[in-house]
Amino acid sequence: MRTQVGIVGAGPAGLLLSHLLHRQGIESVVLDNRSRADIEATVRAGVLEQGTVDLLRALNLGDRMQREGAVHHGIELRYDGRGHRIDLSELTGGKAITVYAQHEVIKDLVAARLDDGGTILFDAEVVGMRDLDRTTAVIRYRSAGTDAELSCDFVAGCDGFHGICRPAIPPSARKEFSRVYPFGWFGILTRAPPSSQELIYTHHARGFALVSTRSPDIQRLYFQCDPHDDVNNWSDDRIWAEFRARLATHDGWAPREGPVIQKNIVAMRSFVCETMRHGRLYLAGDAAHIVPPTGAKGLNLAVADVRVLAQALAAYYADGRHDLLDAYPETALRRIWRAEHFSWWMTSMLHQFPGNDPFQQRLQVAELGYVTASRAKSITLAENYVGLPFE
Ligand code: FAD
Ligand code: PHB
Repeated sequence: MRTQVGIVGAGPAGLLLSHLLHRQGIESVVLDNRSRADIEATVRAGVLEQGTVDLLRALNLGDRMQREGAVHHGIELRYDGRGHRIDLSELTGGKAITVYAQHEVIKDLVAARLDDGGTILFDAEVVGMRDLDRTTAVIRYRSAGTDAELSCDFVAGCDGFHGICRPAIPPSARKEFSRVYPFGWFGILTRAPPSSQELIYTHHARGFALVSTRSPDIQRLYFQCDPHDDVNNWSDDRIWAEFRARLATHDGWAPREGPVIQKNIVAMRSFVCETMRHGRLYLAGDAAHIVPPTGAKGLNLAVADVRVLAQALAAYYADGRHDLLDAYPETALRRIWRAEHFSWWMTSMLHQFPGNDPFQQRLQVAELGYVTASRAKSITLAENYVGLPFE
């Protein structure tokens, strides 16, 4: 089989890239080792930046998101038993975020791509690649017990943090920057009405907690936990007791409780791979970088990468230009490092670190006080949270 761009991974990065290329008349084939049902059922992120929403709409991929997603104009920062609203829209000249689950975005992208006649190979595990330094690169994959090859002009490595594309760049050609946090997030889905109209990010002596949502009937909440803990140690009663303790306010606020229908523990790390290119291989999304979820940036950054990559590939196919492809890592990394800083900052301000002494705790509260009282600092949070403009 042959195509112009072979895309490894049908996550947000790979699927959106395939759409963007299709709009430019560029062929692609997307391969994923998981089944369509698996991909469409994996619970992950929930917050879409304004720029992500605008892009999905511009591509006519946003109908269901517009109907079912919830536009939020603010978030709450809660500490010392009090809530403080950050008015995202007022502080950013009218921008907002949309809460719409990642797997719903995936469903929309898969359906629209298949409707367009696009090729997505599910249950197709990429096992290697070769000739990345030649004019035609080859992706080797295994599907239904059979080995096969896909020849292409370019390989887009959109296969997430544990994929095989980043390791295909020789260690001598890449530098990796990493920070592993000594805590994780315990995430639940519960069948209950929303506890709040807006997301609540809480700093508490027992640890961070976050109230998010999925729909009028299903809510998503997280609390900071030991990354090595086991979800089976947590009964529904114990989970709700923890949320009640961390989210309590002086005026008696409490979350709306319901049966916990899903629970998982997410590890927290910051990671960047420089470079994002090796010969005809270009990395995008989690394959190249990870952020802790506190800034809600992971999915949005994947979208931002493929936006830049698609433009560069379009310039190559339309005019034979190499300059945007050559500049891709540098262009993408500017936004990536900004998001890395924002995500690290939100994480540092809101979580309890093991060994946090009273001095550090006071510093965190002083910073929260400044963020909520100073217009300049509120704008800093708001403009990063809704997403900085694209270059
Ligand atoms: P992915 O979504 O990881 O997609 C990569 C795809 O590549 C996968 O479908 C995988 O099956 C496929 N693949 C991997 N290896 C191969 C191979 N060898 N051959 C073929 N296909 C392959 N962000 C938040 O903001 N909030 C959250 O709550 C949150 N929770 C998360 C929970 C988990 C467990 C993880 C892993 C991430 C979470 N994130 C969260 C981050 C966010 O979901 C990611 O940033 C986003 O999914 C990145 O998209 P992507 O397309 O780059 O990679
Ligand atoms: C989510 O709804 O899953 C979510 C929301 C905000 C975050 C992270 C995750 O910062």
